[in-house]
Amino acid sequence: MNRVLTTRWLKIPVFVLCLVPALLLVWKAANGDLGANPIEFVTHWTGDWAIRFLCITLAITPVRRLLGLPDLIRFRRMLGLFAFFYASLHFLTWLVLDQFFDWNAMVKDVVKRPFITAGFTAFLLLMPLAVTSTAGWIRRLGGRRWQMLHRLIYVSACIAVVHYYWLVKSDIRLPLLYGAIITVLLAFRLVVHLAKKGRSVRRAAAPGVEV
Ligand code: HEM
Repeated sequence: MNRVLTTRWLKIPVFVLCLVPALLLVWKAANGDLGANPIEFVTHWTGDWAIRFLCITLAITPVRRLLGLPDLIRFRRMLGLFAFFYASLHFLTWLVLDQFFDWNAMVKDVVKRPFITAGFTAFLLLMPLAVTSTAGWIRRLGGRRWQMLHRLIYVSACIAVVHYYWLVKSDIRLPLLYGAIITVLLAFRLVVHLAKKGRSVRRAAAPGVEV
């Protein structure tokens, strides 16, 4: 499996697969298949895919470790950028189709409706991650600082869940499901971090002894 993951061309089908939801949306729009309220349809579609890609991106590290597939890391940046891509389409739908570039109405909406405030915050937090996703920025910031910055994706994902939870009127099952997924993924990272810390403390306490 690791050999397949290292093949150069594999990034192309993965890229195309990530584009499928956007292409499907274009297809539906071209065929007048966006339902009675097209703006609502596009908002929900892009919001759903943004949160799904956030979860998929966050799942890469646990899946790499659990299944012993270190080369999955090659796809994490692309998946993260697709999360940003769908969140941008989602934001643009609100900006262009919902608010019609009415800046006053937009500011009012962001300030007055808590679920919009949360969505806006989650989106803003993804911006520096998208900008600094290149190898040049990793070099400029240094690996450690870059990693610290990119932990913002967890904060963004948690706030996105709050955004979803606040906007649903009655059926809270889906926001709770996303909340549970992100909690499990975060817990996994925490356990790995604590285990690593424990190992290095034991090593420092007993130098020369392999633990
Ligand atoms: C990381 C950023 C974001 C994520 C992951 C996200 C995710 C979601 C999700 C999952 C939904 C529900 C879709 C459904 O019900 O099927 C949603 C709805 C919505 N989001 Fe976001 N969102 C984000 C940012 C934003 C931003 C920046 C805005 C606007 C400033 C926004 C405005 C809305 C609106 C207006 C709805 C529809 C509310 C309704 O149906 O009443 N979101 N979003």
